[in-house]
Amino acid sequence: MKSSLETIAARVGTEPDLESRALSPSIQMATTYARDDQGEHSAGFIYSRLGNPTRQKLESALSELEGGTQALAFASGMAAANAILQSLKPGDRILLPHDIYYGVRALATDYFGSWGLVVDSVDMTDLKMVRDALKKPTRLVWLESPSNPQVSVTDIAAVSLEAKKAGATVVVDNTWCTPLITRPIEFGADVVMHSITKYFGGHSDVLGGALVFAKEDMLSERIHSIQQKAGAVLDPFSCWLTLRGIRSMAVRLERQCESAQALAEFLFRHPSIEKVHYPGLPTDPGHEIASRQMKRFGGMLSILVKGSAEQAKALASNLHYFANATSLGGTESLIEHRASIEGPGSTTPHNLLRISVGLESVEDLKSDLDRGLKKIAG
Ligand SMILES: Cc1ncc(COP(=O)(O)O)c(C=O)c1O
Repeated sequence: MKSSLETIAARVGTEPDLESRALSPSIQMATTYARDDQGEHSAGFIYSRLGNPTRQKLESALSELEGGTQALAFASGMAAANAILQSLKPGDRILLPHDIYYGVRALATDYFGSWGLVVDSVDMTDLKMVRDALKKPTRLVWLESPSNPQVSVTDIAAVSLEAKKAGATVVVDNTWCTPLITRPIEFGADVVMHSITKYFGGHSDVLGGALVFAKEDMLSERIHSIQQKAGAVLDPFSCWLTLRGIRSMAVRLERQCESAQALAEFLFRHPSIEKVHYPGLPTDPGHEIASRQMKRFGGMLSILVKGSAEQAKALASNLHYFANATSLGGTESLIEHRASIEGPGSTTPHNLLRISVGLESVEDLKSDLDRGLKKIAG
């Protein structure tokens, strides 16, 4: 019987344990595994850095949810990104989007620049510019849709097609969508990356990352070997927490997306707001592509406050239900002035605040923002 993704998510790790019939997976903490009488590791596990039963359960769930053939769980989203970049060779060129999680851009330019990677960036929402950028030999194209923090939507299928023609591998950071909203492999991606710290974990209490591969090939083998040798693997307890988080992800996301849409519409009409970036708004430049590519429009939005950086920061620190904090995808709503955290090289507008919508009543969230905006407008 073919199950929907929501059903698969609700049931991950709940198959009865062979010994106890427990319906929640056990956490396997062992670092080493005994050989049998023939001197073999017959259960397939040798040493926990190389493979661990709890991690294997999570990796299978991630692979199934993304429609991939293999998944690898890492100690953080950045460790997953790092493994991809480490798989490249000096002289390889990668194309990043203009708007991208700043940590990935910093890692690629500040560290892999001196390793010999050539790092260029392009507006991935402009196909002509993408085609032009791909005229130079390119090893890898990195996508984020919607992007962090300006929530711009990239046509994954169209860019993947161009990248394939140019012989480049396509990586999609799918942290903001999760496979319940967009499955990049269906649109042509080769590798899907996640910070599972966010919606998969879902409770702001687990740090983790993952890669899911469309097919098993030299690239997936090389990255698997990097995971095992460099050892930035996800620990068993975090794997277990993530499996637990995935089981409620569909209902969390449904509520978060619904509230994000309502907040976006409310803020769009608010006199103290200059702009709202949210693909669920019919006026948003990404709306049409998002309607094809996303099952829902996501739980993240960003706003440009009318006024200065100081006024935007004042709003972020004067709200009752929104914590002024980094990260996203938890049950609690968060708001953050991104230019401050991104630092001197930031291209994020000075008056932009990024919002991660939680599970609170949307009416409470609206009145909180309304009160805060009135306060900063004086
Ligand atoms: C889109 C995106 N990718 C990657 C990361 C990095 O993930 P982690 O913090 O788990 O290392 C983040 C973190 O905020 C993110 O938002």
